[in-house]
Parts: sequence; structure tokens; C-alpha cells
Amino acid sequence: MLSVLSVAIGRRELIWTGIAAAAAAILAPRSARAAASRIDVLLDEPIGPVTADFYGHFVEHLGGVVYDGIWVGEGSKIPNERGIRRALVEHMRRLPRGAIRWPGGCFADSYDWRDGVGPAKSRPTRSNFWIDERTMPKRPDGPAKHEPNWFGTNEFIRFCRQVGAPPYLAANLRSLPPRDFYQWVEYCNAPAGRSTLADQRAAAGDREPFGVRFWGVGNESWGCGGEFTAEEYATEYRRFTAWVPLYGLELALIGSGPNGGDLAWTRRFFTRLLEKGEGQLRRLWGWALHHYSWNVSRGRTTDWYEGKGDAVSFTADEWYELLNEADKMDGLIAGHWNVMGEYDRRHRVKLVVDEWGAWHREGTEVAPHHLFGQQSTLRDALLAALTLDTFHRHADKVAMANVAQLINCLHSLFLAHEDRFVATPTFHVFEMYGAHAGGRAVRTLFSAPRISYARENGPATIWGLGGSATLKERTLTLTVVNPHIAEPSTAEIALHGGKVKAVRATAIAASDIHAHNTFDRPDTVRPREVAAESVPGTVITHTFPPASVTRLSVDLG
Ligand code: AHR
Repeated sequence: MLSVLSVAIGRRELIWTGIAAAAAAILAPRSARAAASRIDVLLDEPIGPVTADFYGHFVEHLGGVVYDGIWVGEGSKIPNERGIRRALVEHMRRLPRGAIRWPGGCFADSYDWRDGVGPAKSRPTRSNFWIDERTMPKRPDGPAKHEPNWFGTNEFIRFCRQVGAPPYLAANLRSLPPRDFYQWVEYCNAPAGRSTLADQRAAAGDREPFGVRFWGVGNESWGCGGEFTAEEYATEYRRFTAWVPLYGLELALIGSGPNGGDLAWTRRFFTRLLEKGEGQLRRLWGWALHHYSWNVSRGRTTDWYEGKGDAVSFTADEWYELLNEADKMDGLIAGHWNVMGEYDRRHRVKLVVDEWGAWHREGTEVAPHHLFGQQSTLRDALLAALTLDTFHRHADKVAMANVAQLINCLHSLFLAHEDRFVATPTFHVFEMYGAHAGGRAVRTLFSAPRISYARENGPATIWGLGGSATLKERTLTLTVVNPHIAEPSTAEIALHGGKVKAVRATAIAASDIHAHNTFDRPDTVRPREVAAESVPGTVITHTFPPASVTRLSVDLG
């Protein structure tokens, strides 16, 4: 095999396919290349479709996400569209229309959807799930502590419609019985005139059914969602999904999957679920996976808050460490997928990564009531980019992903307080990467010198270039992350199975790795058009700046 390949490479006549291409890329002598790095795009090796839902969002009644972030109220002086912050709606319209998950998170398993419907003035005020969180005593009173239910189902669907995104509702499995779940489905999806609940919806101004397809059945059921064992949860899942009214829709029911690398949760859940036969798999469209990245370079402590680094002030090693934490997503997807395959051999059930992102320690939130609010720097932009690239490379396994969270919380695309609003570098990654949505991921191989850095407990490395590619008709979108904080990386990009007609390049980079956008300086980090060098034929040479995210749009001849 090796000698056949060597001969082929020597003659430069190799028909590049599959493993042969991978092996050839590795075997090609480095001295023969103009560049130190190499990217091979295998146009004839599709992985799977990349839908807008890979670019989904997550909205929880937590801190300043809903009140202050999304909902400013219909009578507000802040520009709004029927109570919803206009700047947010306008920015969201620039992104792929990925599903928006609501109302939590942990909040979902304490939420009674009935509290949020009907005339706003008669809705009850309830203690928010997060009221007793460690830092809450020092935070001001307000809707983050006492949920006023101004923003309920109709308002959420209104927001989804304004931005053109499908809704993804998370049902309460810890503190309400299945009947409340069915009735929420009925409220949302039944035709008006046929059911009292549907008429209630119509009376609130929404005669047309909401047509909600995506339903989460509990959230983090191994933790805040009920402290269930995997077996107990599987039993509950069967009970909750044994009958759900369809109203002509193909519902996509999503199970509460593992915390990061807990393969046992996945295995034990599927074992118990299938005790009633493989038919149960028909009621499970997606299996949720959550993975947050925080700096653990100083070693894990018993207090998980101490493992978190600062959002804007970090060392070079912490930069790399956080990106490496995010890079674990690759193994998590592959690991859970393999276990799922033991039970679901045809892989009908897909992964839904409905919480992901960077989680930094408190202190950079833009308003004191923004629990888990944090700034978002260039580092978070690279983290978002490499995670989206990971999803593309697993487009055969992932059906949806939802970054946590949309605004004012964790890895946000936006920060807002009262009349001030700013898009974070992560928003720009989402917009730039939006070109992938609607395409088909194709296998892409990266070869670049690894980068070394130091952990407290020893040396570590991270890859030198990473990314993904999708093909949409005759346009290839290739996105590339260069994590090196100081060195550019020049790569030869070889297209196998197509010829380059034209290339355009856009990049997000900054001279300071801590760069971020603020209300006063909203454009510090944003994408810029850059020059791209292409050799007519099949090779592009491009230099990726240090600490950057680049998109190459290649028209194929
Ligand atoms: O996103 C914040 C919280 O993190 C969510 O409520 C919960 O599901 C997760 O633990």
C-alpha cells in the first residue's frame, strides 16, 4: 500500500480520494512545500448536512437574559418591536435561523408554562430558580430574583417569528407531571376552535398554531433537573413521551443527555429505555449533550467556581488551555455517538449539543443583576469558531447545537443593559460562519506544527491549525482557526475534486488577544476582508494571522 502511494505521489497523478488522500498529505515531504502547514479539502467526501440549527441559541430566565436582554417591554423608550429589543432582532436577522431553546436550563424544571400565558397583568410572580445561587444575595432585587412572567410562551414565539427561528421548548420533568407537558403542546400546536387551550392562545392574539416541533423532555436530569439516576430518568422519559399529541407535526423529542464525558449516563439510559423494545427509539429524536469550557490549568478544586478563569484578563497559557477545553467537544461527540450506536445501530437518534460555550468567573458582567454575565474576547471568538468547526466535522452525528446563552449570560453573542447594546466577537463568528449553513460538510484534513504551552502540572500542546469545510453548489466555505497567539501560519490548501476559480477571504483578528467590544468601543473586534492568494488550479496559499478566525469563500470552476 505504501509503495503504491509513493509512486502515485511521485508522478503527481494521484486520484485523491478518502484514506489515500489523507495518507498522501501526511507522506508528502515538508521540504517540497512552500508552506509549513497544509490543508486538504476532499470535495468528494461528504460528511453530512450543516443546517441552520447548528447555529441555534439558548435563552433562559436567568440574570439579565430575558429581562434587560430580550424583553424591554412594549411601553419602553428603548427601541423595540412589540416589547422585544429591536437591536437584538436586527442583529439576529443577520444570522442563520437556528432554533432557539427556551425557557431553560435549570429554570425549565421549575417553570409552569401556565404562569406565562393570559393577560400580563394577571400573571403571577414566582421565585426564580436561581434565587439562591451563591452570588445572588449581593445582586439587586428584580425580575432575576422574582420572575414576573411578562415574557411567556406567546412572547417567546413572537421573538422567534421576528427573527425567523424555530422554537425549541424545554418541558418541566422535575416538578410537573406529563399531563402539563401534553397540554403545553396542545396550547402551542392545536388548531383554534377545537380546544380550550388553543382558544386561550388565540385570545392572546395568536390564532395560528405555533407549530413547535422541538421539545426537550427535562434538562440536566442528572442534576438540577431532578437528581435522577440514568435508569430513573429513562423511566420518566418513557412516561413523558408515551403519548404526546401531534397535530399533524413530526415532533422532535430531545432527551436530557450527559454531563460532558459521562458515557455511563448515555449507556445506562439507553439500556433502560430499550427494555421496552427498540420501538422506543422512535420517540427520541435527539440526545442532548452539555459541555462548558473553563480554565482548569490551576488544577481542579472542590469548588467548581475556582476552576474558572477571568473573562478578559488571562495569560497565554490560559488562552491555550481554554481552547483545549473547548476542543474536548470532538471526543465527547465521538464517544457518546459510539455508545449510542451500541443500541441504535442505524443511528436514527442524533446528538443535540444544546448547551456549549465558555464559562468564566463573575466580575465582568455589564450590570450587577446579570448572573453569569461575562465579557467575550477574541479568545471566546476562537472558542466559538473551533466548536462550530467541530460540529461541521461531525455533521453526520450532530443535528442541532445551542450556544449558552444568547445575551448577557456566559458565551453571549450580545451584551445589553437598558438602552446600550453591543455585539460580541462571538456574534461576528456566527455571522461569518453562517455561510456554512445549508451546505454539506466535506472531509478536510489539517496538518500544522503543534503549539506547546505550560499547564501547572506539566507541558501541554494544542493543534496548530484547525477548521472545517462545507460545499454549497459550486461554492466552498473553508473556515480556519489559528490559535497561535504570536505566529502567523502559512498553509497550502489543496482542493481534491475541484478547481479554484476565485477566492475571497475574511478574518477576525486583533493585535491584543484580550481584545473585546464594549458599549463605548463596539468595533474593536470585527471581521475584515483580507487578500487571498490562489494559484489557478487546485492550490490556494494563505497566511492565517496569529490568534485568528478566517473564512475562505472559494468559487469552484
Ligand atoms: O446555562 C446555565 C446553566 O448551566 C443551565 O441552566 C444549566 O442547564 C447548566 O448547568
